[in-house]
Amino acid sequence: MQKNSYLDYKEIIAETVETALAEPGLAKEAIYALLEYPPDDKLGDLALPCFQLSKLLKKAPNLIAQELAGKIDPAPYFAAVKATGPYLNFYVEPVPLVKAVLDSILTYGSNYGSRSIGGGQNIVIDFSAPNIAKPFHVGHLCSTVIGNSLYKIFEFLGYNCVGINHLGDWGTQFGKLITAYKKWGSAEAVEEGLIKELMRLYVKFHTEAEQDPALEDEAREWFRKIENGDEEALTLWRWFKEISLEEFQRVYDMLEITFDSMAGESFYNDKIGAVVKELQEKQLLVESDGAAIVNLDDYGMPPCLILKKDGSTLYATRDIAAALYRKKTYQFVKALYVTGAAQSLHFKQWFKVMELMGCDWAKDLVHIPFGLVSLKGEKLSTRTGRVVLLEDLLKTAIEKTLAIINEKNPNLVQKEEVAQVVGVGAVVFGALSVNRIKDVTFSWEEALSFEGETGPYLQYTHARACSILRKAGVSPETMATFTPEKLHEPAELRVVKTMYLFPEKVLSAAHEYEPSIISRYLIELAQNFNGFYHECQVLVDDQDLQQARLVLVWAVKTILATGLGLLGIKAPEQM
Ligand code: ARG
Repeated sequence: MQKNSYLDYKEIIAETVETALAEPGLAKEAIYALLEYPPDDKLGDLALPCFQLSKLLKKAPNLIAQELAGKIDPAPYFAAVKATGPYLNFYVEPVPLVKAVLDSILTYGSNYGSRSIGGGQNIVIDFSAPNIAKPFHVGHLCSTVIGNSLYKIFEFLGYNCVGINHLGDWGTQFGKLITAYKKWGSAEAVEEGLIKELMRLYVKFHTEAEQDPALEDEAREWFRKIENGDEEALTLWRWFKEISLEEFQRVYDMLEITFDSMAGESFYNDKIGAVVKELQEKQLLVESDGAAIVNLDDYGMPPCLILKKDGSTLYATRDIAAALYRKKTYQFVKALYVTGAAQSLHFKQWFKVMELMGCDWAKDLVHIPFGLVSLKGEKLSTRTGRVVLLEDLLKTAIEKTLAIINEKNPNLVQKEEVAQVVGVGAVVFGALSVNRIKDVTFSWEEALSFEGETGPYLQYTHARACSILRKAGVSPETMATFTPEKLHEPAELRVVKTMYLFPEKVLSAAHEYEPSIISRYLIELAQNFNGFYHECQVLVDDQDLQQARLVLVWAVKTILATGLGLLGIKAPEQM
């Protein structure tokens, strides 16, 4: 990966202010962290609040701002440096900005915004992880798309990501399923109904077990058989798993998501013994009602359950075994776990257990929680019980998009492909468009609209930029040179300033594990670009102006495609 460096005004300001400050001053890094983008561009493009300096220098912040304004020479990067109350405001000089930003994008192309800070170190991302014999429902959508996006973001920053699908393919539920299958199922019915039949059996088990608690014992017995390698039990379990994986694969194909490892919970079955032994040796395991637990009273948490009374393992046990295995196998610098916020306590508990086991790297385990997804007007979708299947949701999105295309642009070539990319993109963007911890209500009208803050809007803006470039007969070679002085309209500068921010946004999205920083940024870029397109004509008589504007269009198109790519969304050239 090439070593990219981008124009960084914060860096320039931090250096200038550090020099301008007399002793005792503030270090460059500290100044850097204080810099803000003012909410109103009348207040400049960047601002240094002087409150913290005021404490240090024992001087009024207004006075510090004034003194610094007097000392700092704005040239060549700034047109002016002014004090406004306690703030020191910097006004960017357009030409160097336009030149640096557009040159960067022309040079790096689809790598604009990437960095090599990861240095090839490994980050393990545990995401998606649907449960075998249960439907792949909308709740798993967030884990899948957030995890996939984080994967792309960290790769873009020079890390080597390992995507793991920690399939829920182990646990007492399989004992229940086998019990139910033996009592009320048949091979034909399962072949015919697939996951839906497995679901029916599972639900039936629960209703029947309410009347007949002995069924629970039977189920436990079957799960024990699975854990002990009983051939009949294992064969059934494998079969159920195959059926489920086939369905999951159809969804991953639609989303074009792949994993580096499909090692699910069952993979750790033969690694549990060592974990239990280690916990015993470290005297962390205590007996409680016949079960083995790690007491977490001192940390204000309920105990972490390691072994049940009958010796069978639990979700947390398998997570601990998996973390130890992954550390050994991948030497990760971070291990991310993308699941719903409902599992926050589970992760806190077993992370603490790892810490108590003396794993100093327990601090590198990060839970990435997200809120609930619900559907508005869900009767439009096929339902299995109370859940909406992700596969049905994606298919509906594609169908609806095709209908929109047929109405708006019936002669579009490769309509089906475009409908696929736009329909899927709408769903993915819908899940990534707000802060992940917020609950999302997915509505068809909103998600599929070409005008709102949606995936299709971004894709449409990208396609529009492509069409402008196509009409102008632009090719990568003709994009090499331009005259930055030509771009000075407010609408043009707004776009350039937004493009300047892209590398920084990618970094923040990684630091905060928050793909929505990129999705919101792209909306702003697209809105500013559409504003520019509305106000400034691109194809004009002045050849230098036209060339500069075409470079700007090219640059926007490039960032839109890169940014959408980081969200796991494709950007078609026509739609
Ligand atoms: N299968 C689990 C679920 O559907 C998610 C697994 C998440 N990963 C993990 N290592 N615990 O809730």
